[in-house]
Amino acid sequence: MAANNLQEVCRYLENNAELLKVSKKDNDIISPNNLPDFADVKGQETAKRGMQIAAAGSHNILLIGPPGGGKTMLARRMPGIMPDMTREEVLETTRIYSVAGLLNPDHPLIENRPFRAPHKNASAASIIGGGRIPRPGEITLAQNGVLFLDEFPEFSRDVLEALRQPLEDKVVTVARAQATHTYPADFALIGSMNPCPCGFFGSDLECACTPLQIQKYLSRISGPLLDRMDLHVEVPRVNYEQLRDRGNGESSAAIREKVIRARDIQKKRFSRHKIRLNSQMRPADVKKYCRLDEESEFLLKNAFDKLKMSARAYDRILKVSRTIADLEGCENIKVHHLAEALQYRSLDRKYWRQA
Ligand SMILES: Nc1ncnc2c1ncn2[C@@H]1O[C@H](COP(=O)(O)OP(=O)(O)O)[C@@H](O)[C@H]1O
Ligand SMILES: [Mg+2]
Repeated sequence: MAANNLQEVCRYLENNAELLKVSKKDNDIISPNNLPDFADVKGQETAKRGMQIAAAGSHNILLIGPPGGGKTMLARRMPGIMPDMTREEVLETTRIYSVAGLLNPDHPLIENRPFRAPHKNASAASIIGGGRIPRPGEITLAQNGVLFLDEFPEFSRDVLEALRQPLEDKVVTVARAQATHTYPADFALIGSMNPCPCGFFGSDLECACTPLQIQKYLSRISGPLLDRMDLHVEVPRVNYEQLRDRGNGESSAAIREKVIRARDIQKKRFSRHKIRLNSQMRPADVKKYCRLDEESEFLLKNAFDKLKMSARAYDRILKVSRTIADLEGCENIKVHHLAEALQYRSLDRKYWRQA
């Protein structure tokens, strides 16, 4: 039931008034069939796989490549492969939209998983939260869903740096003169970017930028921020043969089935915990649920030294490996799961460290 204010709640409890009963209204729920479909995306198999993993464990993903490869197209297809929100998630999300004053009075229940795509020129307060009268920002409105930052490096430096803390803690603290406010901020981040101002650095077309321009552009995504992107995926230009291919790629419905199965496994695993998803694991959970066999341990140790990985990256790789194993229905993480997770961590060498 929904009330406009606490007075209405009191009157209801004193049996003096009725409250609006909220039922599931089918026409307000976006059916997955009405969302854009992954079947329209030609080629880009690695990127599609990355999106599937990100959706399954609610991991962050960075899509990088030249203009026109389909980065925006891929990101916009994420909602179509995510499961419906659980009742718990519906209530939690509705509470946030209520605080933000964003509920539809005719149907005050948020049932569609959030997909927020703020513009790159949006202010830090509107994205992170805050303002003179503090309000939750886009990162809080994305709770339980997706935050899509298209043209990632072109967001203001304030926004990019302020993202670091919530990406780690999954809550955001906004300090004001009078008080501090903490809002939830647990979402999967999709960042999409060209590798340089002209867009063609590292591609098969000639790049018109100077090394300094490239370096300046890439450095907007700082090391600590890049470290928080669990999966780095290259989205190259599709070639003519791929584009004219009449066959359909894997459909969103088929991918969604796999994501749902992987999420069910996670739900069971964490049934006695406060968390629901692999990305939410605390270090103690990682220790318990991401055990490696000897062969995997050896691979990870080598990669750790070679890629000069941080402790943060180490934990994130294990969480992604866990999700990859869940997608395969494997109880234990095997070496090929870990190897795949590591593969999504090699792009910073191609772009950031080279530039
Ligand atoms: N892999 C692809 N398969 C099918 N169409 C594509 C693909 N990549 C790009 N396109 C077409 O090009 C347009 C631009 O793609 P877009 O997602 O905006 O690229 P980007 O964000 O990487 O610059 C799309 O709307 C689509 O029509
Ligand atoms: Mg784009």
